[in-house]
Amino acid sequence: MYKVALFCKIPKETMGLFSEDKYEIIEQETSDADGIVMRSMDIHDMQFSRRLKAIARSGAGVNNIPVERCAEEGIVVFNSPGANANAVCELTFLGLLISSRKVVDSIYWTKKLDNNVVDAVERGKSQFVGPELKGKTLGVIGLGNVGHLVANLGIKLGMEVIGYDPYISVKNALGLSWDVQYTSDINDLYRRSDYITVHTPYNDETKNYINKDNIKIMKDGVKILNFARHGIVNEDDLAEALESGKVSYHVSDLPNEKLLNTKNVVCIPHLGGSTHEAEENCAEMAVTQLTEYLEKGNITNSVNFPDCSMERYPGTDRIVVLNKNIPNMIGKMTTALASRNINIIGMVNKSRGDYACNIIDIVGQLKEEELKELEEHYGILRVMLIKQRAEK
Ligand SMILES: NC(=O)c1ccc[n+]([C@@H]2O[C@H](COP(=O)([O-])OP(=O)(O)OC[C@H]3O[C@@H](n4cnc5c(N)ncnc54)[C@H](O)[C@@H]3O)[C@@H](O)[C@H]2O)c1
Repeated sequence: MYKVALFCKIPKETMGLFSEDKYEIIEQETSDADGIVMRSMDIHDMQFSRRLKAIARSGAGVNNIPVERCAEEGIVVFNSPGANANAVCELTFLGLLISSRKVVDSIYWTKKLDNNVVDAVERGKSQFVGPELKGKTLGVIGLGNVGHLVANLGIKLGMEVIGYDPYISVKNALGLSWDVQYTSDINDLYRRSDYITVHTPYNDETKNYINKDNIKIMKDGVKILNFARHGIVNEDDLAEALESGKVSYHVSDLPNEKLLNTKNVVCIPHLGGSTHEAEENCAEMAVTQLTEYLEKGNITNSVNFPDCSMERYPGTDRIVVLNKNIPNMIGKMTTALASRNINIIGMVNKSRGDYACNIIDIVGQLKEEELKELEEHYGILRVMLIKQRAEK
């Protein structure tokens, strides 16, 4: 039986992915758990038992998890990238409409009307006239899980769409509408766009990505949206541009004191991924990845180990070896197995950054104490044995 600790509520349908004959679900207890499923609880200070093999985060961000320490302890950390992408994409379009049609200001204005409302509406509505999206140019920076959906939806709404992403994945490039104009010159996007929306991660390269230097080359009255992360838009430079009218509107899903006190800014309380569907998708992805690893050793969407998977060779036991990405690790493992008269039937090795994963299908008996001996080799972080009978 595998024990999985749940640190968050997950939908009933997703619970069904833990088959009763294989899983015992426990709450808030890690001392003898094989896996953890969690959402936003901060576990930086938590001590993990040697039995813990994997943590699956229902959601994309992992800054509440000590990812590096987990790698050193041979614990694979999974996240669920893209599972909430459609939710963020839809809200981004609400952001476009808000920035165009002054929807929020008009709602506040309407709420304050107290008598002769029908008449007052007809007399006052002209102050909220704004442009349609159709025929306007939308610049999408970052064509990942969210950005490529935003670009495609822009096309469906009759917009001209320019996309910029120097690191676009093959999967997202293939998913991008042919009508999206892909540019390798971000200044081209800045010059031509009526609306600019950012969907990149926040990192050293994207910190202050939107700043006074590039705002200068944008169209007068441009509208800027941030449904990604704090810090990508330089808020001091943005405030200046909003004050002067160079930028006419900003919609952000990342409110803070500064933005709340800036003219022509509408803030949404970080609702991008907050739909029932997105939460279900995230939980399902997290649980599927966790069970696939515990039962088959296959790794997909880990943030600290590389993707690594292999079809099971019939009639074999499987060992999964997590190790540091340093020379001679494969040699050490194969020699150690050969010296115990274990025959390797199939093997895959993948590495990324400082860490590597090996899946090895074997014939021959490997005892518990021999697994422990393998783990004692310098650089080996975890050896996990998956017997034939444990397979789905
Ligand atoms: N508002 C919310 O609730 C919410 C929900 C989910 C994700 N997000 C945020 O939205 C952003 C996008 O999420 P995602 O799931 O699409 O991520 P993703 O990793 O799938 O996509 C990010 C894309 O940005 C591209 N990129 C990286 N550096 C770039 C650069 N310098 N210039 C242009 N493109 C660059 C990458 O190549 C990738 O295609 C992230 O910041 C994420 O944290 C917000």
